Amino acid sequence: MKYQNAVSFPGDFLWGASTSAYQVEGASKEDGKGPSVIDILEHRPPGIADFSVASDHYHRFREDVALFAELGLRAYRFSIAWTRILPSGEGEVNRAGIAFYHELIDELAAVGIEPIVTLYHFDLPAALDERGGWSDRRTIDAFERYARILFDEFGGKVRYWLTINEQNMMVLHGKAIGTTGRSGDTDQKTIYQQNHHMFLAQARAMASCHEMLPEAKIGPAPNIVSVYPATSAPGDVVAADDWDAIRNLMYLDVAVRGAYHPLAWAYLSERGLEPRFEDGDDETLRGARPDFIAFNYYSTQTVGESRGDLSDIQTRGGDQQIVRGEVGLYRAVKNEHLPTNAFGWEIDPVGLRTTMRRLWDRYRLPLIITENGLGAFDELVDGRVHDDYRIDYLRRHIEQIQLAISDGVDVFGYCPWTAIDLVSTHQGIRKRYGFVYVDRDEGDLKELARIRKDSFHWYRGVIAGNGVDLC
Ligand code: BG6
Repeated sequence: MKYQNAVSFPGDFLWGASTSAYQVEGASKEDGKGPSVIDILEHRPPGIADFSVASDHYHRFREDVALFAELGLRAYRFSIAWTRILPSGEGEVNRAGIAFYHELIDELAAVGIEPIVTLYHFDLPAALDERGGWSDRRTIDAFERYARILFDEFGGKVRYWLTINEQNMMVLHGKAIGTTGRSGDTDQKTIYQQNHHMFLAQARAMASCHEMLPEAKIGPAPNIVSVYPATSAPGDVVAADDWDAIRNLMYLDVAVRGAYHPLAWAYLSERGLEPRFEDGDDETLRGARPDFIAFNYYSTQTVGESRGDLSDIQTRGGDQQIVRGEVGLYRAVKNEHLPTNAFGWEIDPVGLRTTMRRLWDRYRLPLIITENGLGAFDELVDGRVHDDYRIDYLRRHIEQIQLAISDGVDVFGYCPWTAIDLVSTHQGIRKRYGFVYVDRDEGDLKELARIRKDSFHWYRGVIAGNGVDLC
């Protein structure tokens, strides 16, 4: 639908930006922090930065928050490192870790920035991984206890909570992201049992949040994208529906409705991958309901009917580690209508609108976009970063959010990835997303100086004008 006059962004729209603890903080062994699965990664690609220093936000958070305030952020979405709070995932609380996040949240409050806190963003404690990680049901208890510690400590200061970042990407691409820990190449049956345990952990965290903090709001944060059929051939449409259910809707149906999506369940049971339910699991899942849906959006996926052979499989752009397509389920197809970024990711602003419309249509829960952004090889030239490509990317996505609002979708915030440069999941610091440039490269930390990119000045104007002027 085209509008003569698009509806404005609400006055209290949360213009924000995102990071995650292990990608931005550094100080990976300081002040009592324990190791996470990320810290024990053994197969990092050669020449790619590890996460031990990252952007050194742990030591420079005051300078960073001052920059976020200058940018005009109304919200900052970040994660708490489980292993700073509980170095081995359970047991003794590390007071230094608690103190760090109090200081960060207080600093944000002092400049009027709303904290949006992710409980768990890929960094499972290594000690829990050691004894089976998400395969072991004790990890569900550990997560609930960890969540309750956070609610108890920070509940008076934090209104918005996110449970688990991109559970679906950990399930589908865990090895590439580096979240599988010592278990490495786990079989599919185990992965879907782990997935079930994460669903239970999430449900218990949501229920605890509602019990302990009646004023707070909590939601899941999966990666959700529209799935397009490659053509109007009915077989392609069926494949798109199937993949949508398995990639997207399973995660939201369990979170919101407390039950597996029927198509996703059919897929799991037909392949013998269905998780084992224990007594009470059903009640746990049905007993929790989020207040909103947070989702991360980068690009859509286009799929065709499976040909039943290896031609179904593709890697994403130049990234050999992210495999798409599944023989007998769907064929990965390049969408010829969409350009790609420097890393081969398709760019589809309109897909953000369709994704939002579909989510609103199905769940009728307020939405917040907790990640969206452009990974690029930014260049620092004479102290400036001219990232007009990022401005263009963000502008075109924000336009589509406004159209979705005009369509009647209830969306209350937008937090692009990232507030400040950080280390990408598996492609290093050279793949940058931030509004603020961090002067370091893969091996040389230099001074880690902070430099405002052109997109910083542009986004400040967008926020100041509440999205009216995107030029
Ligand atoms: C999301 C993650 O999948 O995408 C982030 O939540 C990640 O942690 C972001 O950094 C971009 O992906 P990448 O691989 O470019 O870092």
